[in-house]
Amino acid sequence: MPLSDLLDSLLDNPIFGAGFGLVGVGTALALARKGAQVGMIVFRRNYMITLEVPSRDKSYHWLLSWITKHARHTQHLSVETSYLAHESGRVHTQFDFHPSPGNHIIWYGTKWIRVERTREKQMVDLHTGVPWESVTFTALGRDRQIFFNILQEARELALKQEEGRTVMYTAMGGEWRPFGFPRRRRPLNSVVLESGVAERIVDDVKEFIGNPKWYTDRGIPYRRGYLLYGPPGCGKSSFITALAGELGYSICLMSLSDRSLSDDRLNHLLSVAPQQSIILLEDVDAAFVNRELLPTENPVAYQGMGRLTFSGLLNSLDGVASSEARIVFMTTNFIDRLDPALIRPGRVDLKQYVGHCTHWQLAQMFRRFYPTAPSPDGDQFASSALASLPEMSAAQVQGHFMLYKMDPAGAICNVDKING
Ligand SMILES: Nc1ncnc2c1ncn2[C@@H]1O[C@H](COP(=O)(O)OP(=O)(O)O)[C@@H](O)[C@H]1O
Ligand SMILES: [Mg+2]
Repeated sequence: MPLSDLLDSLLDNPIFGAGFGLVGVGTALALARKGAQVGMIVFRRNYMITLEVPSRDKSYHWLLSWITKHARHTQHLSVETSYLAHESGRVHTQFDFHPSPGNHIIWYGTKWIRVERTREKQMVDLHTGVPWESVTFTALGRDRQIFFNILQEARELALKQEEGRTVMYTAMGGEWRPFGFPRRRRPLNSVVLESGVAERIVDDVKEFIGNPKWYTDRGIPYRRGYLLYGPPGCGKSSFITALAGELGYSICLMSLSDRSLSDDRLNHLLSVAPQQSIILLEDVDAAFVNRELLPTENPVAYQGMGRLTFSGLLNSLDGVASSEARIVFMTTNFIDRLDPALIRPGRVDLKQYVGHCTHWQLAQMFRRFYPTAPSPDGDQFASSALASLPEMSAAQVQGHFMLYKMDPAGAICNVDKING
């Protein structure tokens, strides 16, 4: 694209003709050159506008996608691969192409804009270990509005991709990074909990989100903690994912057994978590065992690089107060292994047992899976299932249905085959 190349060199080389090097022509030429130099500086200062966006800024990734969309003709790309292994074992990868570091020229509205993506070889972001990057937009004119428009467009573009989806974040160093692709929202009614349980939690969370004033008026930190406990495979994690979808929230998944987690880092992460997100601490029993079981007063979760202490965890949980609604969910398979200090009111405000399938749940799951089967079949399935195996997880039932995808009668006759 010759025009863009021309513009590029124009912006890069303020002194036209600097390369002539005709030394002998004398003072006149030197003066002219000086004049051109000064002129260019004045021009740059008054008739060009720039916007620098560092990579740690939230809009940085939005802008990269925006640039990719607009710099369609660029021949220089870099790739970012997302990799996600599903619980089912299915692996999902996606390549995202972004303009590579260097200069790109974009025609936007009625203007040429130069986009320069730079990557510092010497400088590394200490939090994440990735090279320091930035993009700089340069345009002719004085109207800064153009940059606001671009930022807004980039944001809308990014949010549109997330619409109807749940974004999962994981901690990378000191910040939260989206993990994989935003997942399609899981409908709440696809997770069948015991009658009334889902409603109890949903109502509580919605009431909490809707009443910031109640908390500020009383000087109570605007946070609420939830604990779901019970045997594995009964829907604790699935329910939280579905709840996030229902609320339009994202999920910040935090593993307390992460060896590089220290008190400071946990504290920092909890305080910088994205707005409108649920902090999810899975299997909290795995990180700390009940203090009474240990001789030391303040057990350390893992002796790795960082050290997460039990009191550090409590402090971080108590400290996550902000004007934003802060929702913390914890899950565990063994509530009796948890230290009472971790789940006392104020840290955990609502505890809910999510257990093996009841008759009501089994019938409900059957009807959801086989919507065309007559309704009494659900009860029949539930009764025979409980007769053959009184303690059955929803995950087992789901696995059983998958074997009889199109065959509700088969699912009932062979109910004794659940769990082999
Ligand atoms: N109550 C439920 N209703 C529907 N599906 C469920 C339910 N409980 C578990 N499942 C299914 O079983 C699998 C494991 O559930 P998960 O939520 O990870 O259990 P937990 O976190 O309690 O160990 C998921 O694929 C989920 O779809
Ligand atoms: Mg789970």
